[in-house]
Amino acid sequence: MSSRPHDHEGAMEPQVGDAHANQYPAQPPGSAIEVEAVAPKATRVSRQELIDRLNDDLAREYQAIIAYVIYSQTLKGAAFMAVAQELESHAAQELGHAITIAKHIDYLGGTPGATPRPVKVVDNANGMLRADLENERLTIQAYRERLKQCEALEEYGIAEDLREILRQEQEHLVDLSTALGEAAPQI
Ligand SMILES: [Fe+2]
Ligand SMILES: [Fe+2]
Repeated sequence: MSSRPHDHEGAMEPQVGDAHANQYPAQPPGSAIEVEAVAPKATRVSRQELIDRLNDDLAREYQAIIAYVIYSQTLKGAAFMAVAQELESHAAQELGHAITIAKHIDYLGGTPGATPRPVKVVDNANGMLRADLENERLTIQAYRERLKQCEALEEYGIAEDLREILRQEQEHLVDLSTALGEAAPQI
């Protein structure tokens, strides 16, 4: 015999028992299973694909570190002294991003890669700033996509860190645009 009160009422009021059961569904609303079911398909990737994409991001961070180290020390001319200092601070921030991304790749069970994307060798200030600007633009596009993919996998901790990285990349984009005397490109 069950201890549920409606069961004691037997066949006289079966509809009451059914209504009671519907009030207490086995699967509570907002559970992980329900969230998984409504995640947009376009942003759905497997954990292995997320590891691979984060390794692409890591290669881009290595590229940014190298570019900012070289450009900050080779940018010449009094007009660019303040800009060179700005690029040096970017280099330090890109190192922080690389460490954060590598930490999450390891957490997901992957291995952080060791290869940077190629760095463009440029010998003039304008070319250096433009190469950095283009890299930042591509990086922002990539992180916006990665953020959605992390949220679709309910990896909210990684997503939180990506938001902060994305905020800094957008600052870099504005800094570079300002140095070039232009408005930041709309991405
Ligand atoms: Fe970065
Ligand atoms: Fe950046």
